[in-house]
Amino acid sequence: MKGRILIRNIGELAGIVPAGVLCKCGEEMSRVEALKNAWLLIKDGRIAEFGCGAEPCADEVIDADGGMVLPAFCDSHTHIVYAGSREGEFLDKINGLSYEEIAARGGGILNSADLLHNTSEDQLYRQSKARLDEMIAFGSGAIEIKSGYGLSTEDELKMLRVIRRLKENSPALIKATFLGAHAVARGMTKEAYVDKICSEMLPAIDGLADFVDVFCDEGFFTPEDTARILEAASKYGIRPKIHANELAVSGGVQVGVKYKALSVDHLERTTDAEIEALKGTGTMPTMLPGSSFFLGLPYGRAKEFIAAGLPLALASDYNPGSSPNGDMRFVMALACIRMRLTPAQAFNACTLNSACAMGVSDQAGSITVGKRANLILTHPGWNLTKIPYLYRTPFIRQVIL
Ligand code: NIG
Ligand code: FE
Repeated sequence: MKGRILIRNIGELAGIVPAGVLCKCGEEMSRVEALKNAWLLIKDGRIAEFGCGAEPCADEVIDADGGMVLPAFCDSHTHIVYAGSREGEFLDKINGLSYEEIAARGGGILNSADLLHNTSEDQLYRQSKARLDEMIAFGSGAIEIKSGYGLSTEDELKMLRVIRRLKENSPALIKATFLGAHAVARGMTKEAYVDKICSEMLPAIDGLADFVDVFCDEGFFTPEDTARILEAASKYGIRPKIHANELAVSGGVQVGVKYKALSVDHLERTTDAEIEALKGTGTMPTMLPGSSFFLGLPYGRAKEFIAAGLPLALASDYNPGSSPNGDMRFVMALACIRMRLTPAQAFNACTLNSACAMGVSDQAGSITVGKRANLILTHPGWNLTKIPYLYRTPFIRQVIL
C-alpha cells in the first residue's frame, strides 16, 4: 500500500487507543473510544493521522459513505495449516462420541497428522492459503498459526515452512508457533516423544517459529512435560503460548505463568486458583468460545476474569477438530451471547488484546497513529452492538490491509 489514502465520511471511527497502550485490563475493557463523522489518513500502509473537520490532501480517496471504520480483528490462536478435512469425525460426534473418545480411537490430531504426512508441501500451502484468505475476508488482519499436525521433525518443519510462505505471500501480519507437543506421535511413548521435541525438534525449528506451544491437558501433556519443553525452548529464547484447561483443570495456567507465557489459551475449565495465578503477570488469558460451541464444552468464565481486573483475549482456534471456523465476528457474537460480555468488551478482546496475545499490539489491534492500517470498513448503518447482534448479516464493505 503506497502513497496517501484518505478515508472520508466515516460515520464512526471506533477502537481508538493512545500509542503505547498494549492491552486493556478489567474495567478498561468496557470502553471503546470513537470519533463520529471522522476521516483517517493512511500513509505507506500505516495510520498517519485521523480526526474530524478539515481533511488533509491525499493521492486516493475512499468515501466511507457513513460506514464505520474499525481495526481489523486479530486472531491469536489458529491451526489453519492442516490437510484435508475431518468430517467423518463430525459424524462420529453427532452420533455421540466425545473429543477425547475420537482421539483415543486414533482419530483427532493423529488423523490430521496422517493426512498431512501424505500431502505435498505445495498442496498444504494451497489449502492453508485458501483458509487464510477466507479469514481475511471475514475481517482478520493479524493471525497466529500453529504447527502441530506434523509430529515428526520433518513434517513439523514442513508446516512451519508453509507458515513462512503464508507470511511472505499475504498482507496479513502472521506469527508462527511451534506446537510439536500437540499429541504423542504414533508408535512412540510420551517420554520418548518429549525427549525428541527437546533434543531434535526445537534445535531444528530455530528461526521458523516465533513461539512455542504445548497442549497441556488431560490425556495429552502434563505440567511436568510442559515444563521440560519450555525449559528447552527457553535456550532458544522462544516465548510460550500454552493450550490449558480445555478438557480438565490441567495445571497448564500455572506452568505457563511460571515460564512467562505470552498467553494461556482455552480456559474452558478454571477454578479461582487460575484467576489468582494470572494476576499481576504478563500472561494474557485467551478464551476460544468457538471450541466450546462446537464441542459442547462449558464457556470460559470471561466476566469473572474481567471483574478480577485481568485482561482477556478471544481467538477463533480455527482447526478441523474443535473449531472449524475462522470468523472472529462469530467469536465476538458467542462472547456476547454465551459469555455475556458486552460488545465493547468482546471487541477489545478480539482486537487489541488478541494482538497482545501474539506480541503484535504495538503494530495492530487499534486505531493508533503509526500502526499498520489494517482496517475494516463497514456498510452504512452499522454500530458496535449490531455487529454481534445481527451476527449473520454481512457488515463488511471492505477489508483494508
Ligand atoms: O485447540 N486442543 C488442542 N488442539 C486443538 C484441536 C486440534 C484438533 O482437534 O485438530 C484445539 O482445540
Ligand atoms: Fe488450539
